[in-house]
Amino acid sequence: MSAKVYPMSDAVKAHARLNPESYQEKYQASIADPEAFWREEGKRISWFSPYSKVKQTSFAPGNIDIQWYSDGTLNACYNCVDRHLPERADKTAIIWEGDEVDVQKHISFRELHESVARFANGLKKLGVKKGDRVAIYMPMVPEAAYAMLACARLGAVHSVIFAGFSPNAIADRVNDCGAKVVITANEGRRGGKVVPLKPNVDKALSNNACESIEHVVVLKHTDTDYPLEANRDIWWHDLIGDCDSDCPPEVMAAEDPLFILYTSGSTGKPKGVVHTTGGYMVYASMTHEYSFDLQENDVYWCAADVGWITGHSYIVYGPLANGTTTLMFEGVPTYPDVSRIGKVVDKHQVTILYTAPTAVRALMAKGNAAAKGSARDSLRLLGSVGEPINPEAWEWYYETIGNSACPVIDTWWQTETGGILIAPFPGATDMKPGSAMLPFFGIKPKLVDNDGKVLEGATDGNLIIEDSWPSQARTLWGDHERFEQTYFSTYKNVYFTGDGARRDEDGHFWITGRVDDVLNVSGHRLGTAEIESALVAHKAVAEAAVVGYPHDLKGQGIYVYVTVVDGVDASDDLLTELVKWVRSELSPIATPDFIQWAPGLPKTRSGKIMRRILRKIACNEHSQLGDTSTLADPSVVDSLIENRLNR
Ligand code: PRX
Repeated sequence: MSAKVYPMSDAVKAHARLNPESYQEKYQASIADPEAFWREEGKRISWFSPYSKVKQTSFAPGNIDIQWYSDGTLNACYNCVDRHLPERADKTAIIWEGDEVDVQKHISFRELHESVARFANGLKKLGVKKGDRVAIYMPMVPEAAYAMLACARLGAVHSVIFAGFSPNAIADRVNDCGAKVVITANEGRRGGKVVPLKPNVDKALSNNACESIEHVVVLKHTDTDYPLEANRDIWWHDLIGDCDSDCPPEVMAAEDPLFILYTSGSTGKPKGVVHTTGGYMVYASMTHEYSFDLQENDVYWCAADVGWITGHSYIVYGPLANGTTTLMFEGVPTYPDVSRIGKVVDKHQVTILYTAPTAVRALMAKGNAAAKGSARDSLRLLGSVGEPINPEAWEWYYETIGNSACPVIDTWWQTETGGILIAPFPGATDMKPGSAMLPFFGIKPKLVDNDGKVLEGATDGNLIIEDSWPSQARTLWGDHERFEQTYFSTYKNVYFTGDGARRDEDGHFWITGRVDDVLNVSGHRLGTAEIESALVAHKAVAEAAVVGYPHDLKGQGIYVYVTVVDGVDASDDLLTELVKWVRSELSPIATPDFIQWAPGLPKTRSGKIMRRILRKIACNEHSQLGDTSTLADPSVVDSLIENRLNR
């Protein structure tokens, strides 16, 4: 079946920095001589002392070693803030749109510098210095960006924890990286509701659960007062009360860590993905410029959360490195109603809107109400990220939000890649709804079969990347072996993405989704093992198996099979309790959609759960179970099919 093709509009082509020929030329140059290519591109960042080395990378078994620009020195905060002061001091750096309709702020680069430097001096007073880890558990307020940039200014390594995570998840992450300080707020606001952040931090730290933490900085974002623990907690405003804005940025080596960001994998424990400074900044800035065909006067809105990699690379570091006006939104697209996104676009004259398919589907579900009350004629480009976008959602986004006038840039990438690896290029490619199209400069995507054999031509396969790029994750915090094991052992000498993809006759890539035990629920990445370990921590649960199934709005839904402990009643009350349990143990984003009681789970004779079968039942495809002859007890399956919940 050939896909519908949408040409880039003439308006886009007229001013875009690339055309089909120049994309090909630049791409070929980046592949033919990566050293020369990235030597030149590295100059987009301001270095304190220049690099002479560019690419020193090895994917060899036993020697995974990734270094870029290793002898250069720089500071990420300087690049996002100070270097814009001569030309852009009065330009708006951050537009903040609050949860409530009439709440907003404009922060110029001058003000950003002042706030970041003062807060950095505050952190210094608390003893934070180069190399220390700092956890950030904040709502979507400008202070979240100030906190990240202040850490970068001091050379402290930030680890942002999504504000939807529960106390346990906070404690796990804090302990894994040994954070010294947590920066939080008393409360956040989201969709008209108040989110208690400080109480969650208190719970995470209770009973001395996080021994590395010395201080908690609390931003007073709402009026609610929470008690502060003496000698540990301090209000943000008190901390910066006597600080000035003279805080020279620390000189960092290119390979000094900039941040750790935890993400889910196929085992229970979240992985602390480590990104370093030089290569990350070069790549985040370059992809932001090219993928969105950035112009100086753009008002750019990435509607992600700073708790995810998208917020790091494309709300904070990429846009600010490029001197862009970046919009931060505290709320949700459906509050007070689905017309919010359009109204925010009109209010701030947003030119680029970058959001997730799950948000698009939530708006689309309400018909054309999302387009009511706004013209959205300031928009010139739309972006999509986080999960495969189904063609219906793509078309609705293009036609209804973008008035059929804006290209949709479907960007495929991952926490581990640091920046966009595959996407359409304004001016250079056409668009096919659902296809991420072509590799970014320097990226060599290939499809392989399960044995690692490279597949040519139009085909399905497992997506690998053959060579390194500057913003590639360098390691997992404290566990380089797991880094190798996770990304470089399935197939040797290449990076394995964990995704499946199809390449069509034109050489365009279509990401089909994860091929491992990772779920993508509303664009949030969750490990099935993580949800399972939360469930088995409940005293009534003997065993749990979690699988994904297609969900109209969320992309994937969470289907749980639970075997209760002998003698426990598998009641409706227990069901409600387990749902609550997962929400509070892990996060509301992990709320199960279905919990099916399973007197037994399908296992091989060696005791391994056959997830393939559970997936089929959850997807209501039980007529295509395939071979079940290796099961220890095939009768288990019949009972699961009979009682299946997703009909
Ligand atoms: O499966 C892919 C999916 O999201 C995964 C990465 O999740 P995370 O590390 O949380 O980063 C999300 C934001 C970059 C990928 O392995 N994914 C991300 N973008 C797309 C996508 N799947 C299809 N199309 C995309 N554009």
